[in-house]
Amino acid sequence: MTGKRTALAALALWACVGAPASAQDVKSLLERMTLEEKAGQLSMAARLGTNPLRDRDAPRKDMIGSVLNVITPQERATVTDAVAGSRLKIPTLFAYDIIHGHKTLFPVPLAEAASFDPDMAARSSEFAAREARAHGLALTFAPFADLSRDARWGRIIEGSGEDPLLNALFAKARVEGFRRGGIASTVKHFAGYGAVEGGRDYGPVDLPVTELRNRYLSGYKAAIEAGADTVMMSFVALNGVPSAVNRFLIHDLLRGEWGFKGAIMSDLEAVHELVEMGVATDDRDAVVQAFNAGVDIDMESGLYQRYLPELVREGRVSEADLNAAVARVLTLKARLGLFGEAPIDFEAAKRASATPDMLAFARASAAQTMVLLKNERDILPLKSGLRSLAVIGSLGNSPATVLGPQFAASDEKDTLSLLVGLRERAEPAGITVRYAEGCDIECDTTTGFAEATRLASESDAAIIVVGEPRHSTSEAGSRTRLELPGHQEDLVKAVAASGKPVILVVFAGRAPALSNVLPASTAILNIWYPGSEGAHALADVLLGEAEPSGRLPITLPRSTGQVPLTYNQYAVGRPGDEAQFFSNRYYREPPGPLFPFGFGLGYGKVRYGTVALENTTPGPQDKVTAHVALTNEGAHQTLETVQLYVRQKVAKRTRPLRELKAFTRITLKPGETRTLDLSAAIADFGYWQEDGRYVVEPGAYQIFVGRDSTAPLAGEINVREGLERSVDMAQR
Ligand code: BGC
Repeated sequence: MTGKRTALAALALWACVGAPASAQDVKSLLERMTLEEKAGQLSMAARLGTNPLRDRDAPRKDMIGSVLNVITPQERATVTDAVAGSRLKIPTLFAYDIIHGHKTLFPVPLAEAASFDPDMAARSSEFAAREARAHGLALTFAPFADLSRDARWGRIIEGSGEDPLLNALFAKARVEGFRRGGIASTVKHFAGYGAVEGGRDYGPVDLPVTELRNRYLSGYKAAIEAGADTVMMSFVALNGVPSAVNRFLIHDLLRGEWGFKGAIMSDLEAVHELVEMGVATDDRDAVVQAFNAGVDIDMESGLYQRYLPELVREGRVSEADLNAAVARVLTLKARLGLFGEAPIDFEAAKRASATPDMLAFARASAAQTMVLLKNERDILPLKSGLRSLAVIGSLGNSPATVLGPQFAASDEKDTLSLLVGLRERAEPAGITVRYAEGCDIECDTTTGFAEATRLASESDAAIIVVGEPRHSTSEAGSRTRLELPGHQEDLVKAVAASGKPVILVVFAGRAPALSNVLPASTAILNIWYPGSEGAHALADVLLGEAEPSGRLPITLPRSTGQVPLTYNQYAVGRPGDEAQFFSNRYYREPPGPLFPFGFGLGYGKVRYGTVALENTTPGPQDKVTAHVALTNEGAHQTLETVQLYVRQKVAKRTRPLRELKAFTRITLKPGETRTLDLSAAIADFGYWQEDGRYVVEPGAYQIFVGRDSTAPLAGEINVREGLERSVDMAQR
């Protein structure tokens, strides 16, 4: 039979016998499976045939339960056809890293966090899921819920930054969005991966359990509460125990305390890497340990497929556990409707891609993620009298950079570079846009500086595009320098010497250290990696048709040496003070960040009225509410993000200087005044102690309300009585 016909036969089979719908159906299917077929369901293969442990025929032998990184729908159809010729015809689960879009890309996750709008992430995830599902994918390895306080770590781009509340809200939103769009989610990488030592990817993580709970777990937990389908364990060791064998994480936390029922997978090759980490004697031992610790699916190493059947026969792995793991996989497949699913319709897949509503959303959201860091003399938006612009920097001429490092199935041919996007819009408005490379993509050379400076001097303003080439961020993209790469700082200074205004446009997937280019820049716009419609969005922002309304989800340091530097650091006895030698700072570096967490300018001018606090003696189940009137005294409509921070004044432990507890966004027309209420739940003001108790202590808490994490004190509240929740010690 031809591939298509066998696929249809499989479809007919499941249509006739019915897809497993109940636990009983799954059990009956399990009863018909051999140990080899069961191990197959627990094996996830990347690109069939590249791993010597597998052969191209594996799908036909029911030996591969899921597949990752098979990119085109045509390739996926080939696997489906092979499976249709197998004994059991259990459909393959196709998985992929759909992180911020599949073919149509939305802004990278860190950028979306800058919107302070979790609904944006829910909607972009839904669009991404819809597109991916039409292309035959059913599982994404997202959301990435790894909080990170260290921008040297390249993967900080994949998450929501340094704040536990943002992490939780965005992780939840993505799970909901993926589900609405029809694919399953994987919350990753459990747990604490974002705290790798020194920000070096794949390094060890040392985190006291209190710190893990107080800062790092919120994103994963929120994702699971929102119904995340699967969990991916991290590559790395937490407090000396690799996550793939970490019973505290898997058994106690995930399954025990949080009641997670879905499948748990390893990260790519992580089962095999247990040998490299020195906790398993060999691959076989690695399988025993990982499986018995609770890892259901082995991603890519091929070791479950190879060793699980014999380990069950030897009694080193229980068949009941094997059945339970396989049941989790089959149940997921059934819930996704994979049994009896119609073969991929390539034409429909094409039609489902890059639809006008997706593109419009991608464009509008990209503008809302851009963070305006400086805007001297209100140079932005560009004024109508302007006649010529110089665009400088090879990143400005690179469509690939606009898409970012995790480009999934997107094609840079469908994307405009910033230069082309700007030209398309500016030239009809009578503005000439000329381009000079300045330097190569890594900016290793300076020979183009003179030409760039000349072009700037002949133009009304220069737009210099700087930042990181996309291949140097994300996984394995750790850096020792957060300052602009190569000779980019010198390029900015050379062009600024032309005397023309410099608008610095920064591509960033982390927290760039911009001290050295701050004085030379008239305006700085941090655009992250804005996705498929990034060039249009940038043109909208520069020309004033959209406002850059992003706020920093990470602290921007003055220099790399300050990292980790976050707004919510713990109180110390000698706060950083330049005038105090014996204080918490570095020699000859002003303390504090260059731009604080939560910071971002807009095109309006918002004045805050006096903040009034309601309910200043709340109980632990109450809320505190701030009322404040905002007036836009500027000439442009603006979107303001109002933020509420809390500091516990006296506690049994040192507490963060501030913690974000609530925020809201409000649009104000020029001249408009609006009053808003912002509430935070007292039950969220607590913290975990070493004995496994979460406590909200009674007493005084300061409330700060304003436009960023340096917001002024709004008042103090006095929590009347405390609250306490314990985790069963046996579960810890
Ligand atoms: C990454 C995961 C990713 C997986 C599959 C690994 O290297 O750590 O985040 O989902 O590859 O692409």
